Amino acid sequence: MKQMRQARKLVADSARVVALTGAGISAESGVPTFRGHGGLWRNYRPEELATIDAFERDPETVWEWYAWRRSFLGTCVPNDGHRALARFFLRRGLAGLVTQNVDGLHTRAAREEAGDGSPDAALPVEIHGAIARDRCNHCGARAEAEPLGDSLPRCADCGGLRRPDVVLFGEMLDPDVLARAQSMAERADLCLVIGTSAVVYPAAAIPLATLRAGGRIIEVNTEETGLSGAASVVLRGKAGEVLPELLS
Ligand code: APR
Repeated sequence: MKQMRQARKLVADSARVVALTGAGISAESGVPTFRGHGGLWRNYRPEELATIDAFERDPETVWEWYAWRRSFLGTCVPNDGHRALARFFLRRGLAGLVTQNVDGLHTRAAREEAGDGSPDAALPVEIHGAIARDRCNHCGARAEAEPLGDSLPRCADCGGLRRPDVVLFGEMLDPDVLARAQSMAERADLCLVIGTSAVVYPAAAIPLATLRAGGRIIEVNTEETGLSGAASVVLRGKAGEVLPELLS
């Protein structure tokens, strides 16, 4: 289709490409999105679960929900969209992947596509953290996640309550991680915005940094978003189908 030809030419002509992904890129791996059709937030109210207040008020319930999400994610694998992005960045040798997702599927795709080579160029900047890690809610010490036992996990260093190492609603993002993502976007001449409703800030401002620096946006999404109007090309379709063609 015409849009795909235009988009492929933009990718071929770009020197520095950055990608911002959201839950939509993991939808074809079976990971529910938050707001799109069938999204998680249809069944739960985020305020009840994924907020720092909910965690401090009722850590057991929040931990149960994240333990369920972790066990569910253990059954998911990267899809063709993750793999196409990983191959693209490995080929370009220029790490440019920023994700809002905490599911770890970009990291798995990078490692699997890199084989014996270094996955670094395709490892994502995880601006909302990673569900597979814990972090101490008191001292910040990080640790690999363990299966939830009868009592809530405690920090080995300070005894504080551990929580999933993800950004909860009401929390600030790690300023260093966010600065790295923003600087990647400012130095890019093309931002691929893939599978995000672009309603959560500061993530949604990342593509605008590329635009402000004179770059372009290509949007890959099954639905219209608030960012569609700012895109030079909109590829309306599933990431797992669009990305292999766009990035081959
Ligand atoms: N391919 C491409 N896009 C898709 C697909 C698909 N197969 N399936 C769904 N989408 C699109 C939807 O149209 C929607 O625009 O993915 C987007 C998912 O949007 P959200 O569910 O809002 O997810 P996201 O944008 O990542 O949310 C941002 O909000 O809940 C917080 O911290 C959480 O990181 C998350 C942030």
